[in-house]
Amino acid sequence: MSDLKIRKIPFRFDDVEFIWNPENRAFSVYMNKISFLAVCFEKYICQAMQDAEKVLTDPEAIEEARDFRAQEGLHSLVHRSHVKALVKRYPGLQRAVDVGIELYDQLYAERDLQYHLAYVGGLESTFTPIFKLFFENLEPLYAKGDAQVVSMFLWHFSEEIEHRNSGMKVYKALPGPYFYRVRRFAEFLRHSLLVVNAITAEFHKVFPELTRDELTKISSTPLPLLGTLRAVWGALRSQMPWHDHRREPLPAYYFEWMDRYDRGDDMTLVYGVDKAAMA
Ligand SMILES: [Fe+2]
Ligand SMILES: [Fe+2]
Repeated sequence: MSDLKIRKIPFRFDDVEFIWNPENRAFSVYMNKISFLAVCFEKYICQAMQDAEKVLTDPEAIEEARDFRAQEGLHSLVHRSHVKALVKRYPGLQRAVDVGIELYDQLYAERDLQYHLAYVGGLESTFTPIFKLFFENLEPLYAKGDAQVVSMFLWHFSEEIEHRNSGMKVYKALPGPYFYRVRRFAEFLRHSLLVVNAITAEFHKVFPELTRDELTKISSTPLPLLGTLRAVWGALRSQMPWHDHRREPLPAYYFEWMDRYDRGDDMTLVYGVDKAAMA
C-alpha cells in the first residue's frame, strides 16, 4: 500500500508579485525558478510514471507510481496557475515556461524509460535535506512573503518529503540497477541546472533590473553555514546504496504542516503575510 495522500487544496494567486517577498528578493527569484521548473519537471515525472505503470509487474510499485503521479500532477497544476498569474502580469515570462518544457520534452524523446526513472529517483531523493534547510529557516525565507505563494511552497515541499522514496521505489522495481543510476547522477544534475539557467536567463530579460546576486543566490540573507553543509551532505548521502529514507531526519515543520492539514486548517494561507486581510 502506498502511504501517499492526495490533497486537493484550492490555492489562489490574486495579484501575485514576481518579488513576492520584498524582504528576501533573492529567495523570491529562486523560488520562482522552482515554480517554473516544477511545471516542466513534474510533467516529465508524470510521463515517466505513466510509462512505468505499463511495464511494472509488482502491484505495490504500480500503486506507488500512480499515487506519486497523482501528487506530482497536482503540484504541476498548482505551479501552472502560479506561473499563469505571473505571465498575465509579465507576458515575457511565458518563454521561461516554454523553454523548460522544450528541454524536458527533448530529453524524454531522446532517452529510454530506465534513464528517466533513474533521473527522477536520483533527484527526488535529494530534495528532503534541501527542504529541511528551508523549513528550519522559515522566518528569514518566508515570514514576510505573500501567504498565497508561501503556502503553495510549504504544501509542495511537505509532499515532496512525504513521497521522498517514491521515485527510487519505482526505479528499483523496474528493476533499475544502482550503478546505472549513480553513474549518471552528475548528468541529471547538469540537465536540471541547464533548465534552471535557461529559466533564469528569461527572468533576466523580463527584469533587467535584477542584480547578479538576486539572480544567482538562494537567499538575500545568508543561510546558516552548518545547516547548509548538512543539506549538501544529506543530498549526497541520499545517493549512497545504504541510504534508508525511513531513517532520514525530517524537519519539525513537516509534522506541523501535516497536523494542521489533518486538523482541517486553511492551508491556502498557512504562513506569511495575508495581503487581502491587510488591504
Ligand atoms: Fe512535486
Ligand atoms: Fe516530487
